Amino acid sequence: MLPVNSIAMQAHEQQASPESVLEVHGLTKEFVIGRWGRKRIVRAVSDFSLTLRRREVVALVGESGSGKTTVARVIGRLYAPTAGTIRINGEAVPAKMNRRELLAFRRKVQMIFQDPYASLNPLHSVGYTISRPLRIHNLAQGDDLKARVREILERCELKPADLFINKLPHELSGGQRQRVGIARALAVGPELILADEPTSMLDVSIRLDIMNLMLDLKDEEGISYLFITHDLAGAHYMADRIAIMYASYLVELGPSDDVINEPLHPYTELLKSAAPKPESGLKPEEISTNYDIPDLTNLPPGCPFAPRCPLAEPKCKVVVPPLLEVKPGHYTRCILHHNI
Ligand SMILES: Nc1ncnc2c1ncn2[C@@H]1O[C@H](COP(=O)(O)OP(=O)(O)OP(=O)(O)O)[C@@H](O)[C@H]1O
Ligand SMILES: [Mg+2]
Repeated sequence: MLPVNSIAMQAHEQQASPESVLEVHGLTKEFVIGRWGRKRIVRAVSDFSLTLRRREVVALVGESGSGKTTVARVIGRLYAPTAGTIRINGEAVPAKMNRRELLAFRRKVQMIFQDPYASLNPLHSVGYTISRPLRIHNLAQGDDLKARVREILERCELKPADLFINKLPHELSGGQRQRVGIARALAVGPELILADEPTSMLDVSIRLDIMNLMLDLKDEEGISYLFITHDLAGAHYMADRIAIMYASYLVELGPSDDVINEPLHPYTELLKSAAPKPESGLKPEEISTNYDIPDLTNLPPGCPFAPRCPLAEPKCKVVVPPLLEVKPGHYTRCILHHNI
């Protein structure tokens, strides 16, 4: 157990620098569900703070329903936040944006989705899909537009481009479709890509190719990624840092090697022990499996993981712990490590 550092830093104090592409502070997203007299509030994201540097990859890992997609959709402004602030390159993203502001935002922040088939219009050719953002953002016209589309396709290993340019999504393999999804995001020259499980629907043999393409683009184009995944091994391969979510909360954040080799939060231990090749940590039988996915409309008081945690003490069930830095750059939302 680690004593809390007297200068322990809360996650929202992660230092922003001129290199920070994204700064998220205290992000919360609630959905109202049900109707008439039976309205309930789902808090999908609670008090989420994260800073992402240029060319940095942060993997967001957690079980189904923990809030990962909602984080990406709020940062990508597909949903408005309920509370909290988002800054891109130090500039606050306004709560409401007009078309001009939204276009400027989309040039900097793009998304890649889990299901490349669903996210591509089945009636649009590959060439049209890639040329559309270039036209909307007025980045190229005429012959220049055609040349740019070819260049982007070949950059995403869809080559020779002429072989793909007139194809429809159903004429492509899953891996090729995801390359089109990446090419579409790349077209506007974004600084940040929010990638929501971009490899989870692909054959294992193709996943590595897609991850390697994304890593090459990161280095060559100066892109940062928020890379959402269920897979700790994939997160370790892709990311500089790993962020673990549980029941709407960020519960651990740190350098990838540290989170994988010396996890601090018992939930990260659980994820590790559930992974195909556990190296250490809690044994699966030590984790209570007699527990449903937490109900985000009615979380218990205290640490949301306490009902499932083999190490929980009565004090864990009183207040939600803050996300504190207990080793350099390594944060956890667990009072057993905070020692308070
Ligand atoms: N539009 C919505 N309306 C109501 N509830 C929603 C909405 N979107 C997400 N939720 C709820 O918010 C919670 C978090 O969902 P989210 O999709 O962000 O989780 P996730 O971690 O991405 O899960 P998965 O790994 O299955 O993709 C869930 O309880 C979900 O039901
Ligand atoms: Mg999701």
